Amino acid sequence: MTLDSKLPAVGTTIFSVMSALAAEHGALNLSQGFPDYAVDPKLIGLVERYLGAGTNQYAPMTGVAVLRERIQEKFQRVHGLLVDAEQEITVTAGGTEAIFTTIAALIRPGDEVINFEPAYDCYAPAVTLFGGAMMPVRLVAPEFAVDWDYVKSLITLRTRLIILNNPNNPACRVYRRF
Ligand SMILES: Cc1ncc(COP(=O)(O)O)c(C=O)c1O
Repeated sequence: MTLDSKLPAVGTTIFSVMSALAAEHGALNLSQGFPDYAVDPKLIGLVERYLGAGTNQYAPMTGVAVLRERIQEKFQRVHGLLVDAEQEITVTAGGTEAIFTTIAALIRPGDEVINFEPAYDCYAPAVTLFGGAMMPVRLVAPEFAVDWDYVKSLITLRTRLIILNNPNNPACRVYRRF
């Protein structure tokens, strides 16, 4: 059986390409971060303890309540933001799931998504999959500054989402208060 790709223009991710090349050439891999330290024995102990205590059931869809409360406290402590643990926090299995789910929920055919490029590579395929159009704003090296007048000119009634990644991956630009 052959399956036609829904995204024929999307190739392998840059991470797979660069990591395979680094392994092939025995090169230092600066393209993808891998932890080079052992798991903290305290964490292993806690996992053992809680699994032993029977906490192996399905979690609520939005995440375990006590975890959402701790995330709420951290947002307040670190960012000074008050978010509602019940209404505004959803726990996901990593950033990719969070981003994909957000795009799936928001984007319908014909919607436009403003994106600052270079950008992390999981945004565009998801937007395309749901029939949206990417509206790129090119960030130019070495400053990778944003031309806000250009961003303004892109905003129309079709604009559904603006994706701003801060600090930007891969440019490393940190955006402060605009
Ligand atoms: C900007 C950005 N978005 C999303 C992700 C994906 O995150 P995760 O590995 O948690 O799915 C990464 C991972 O490096 C990232 O740098």
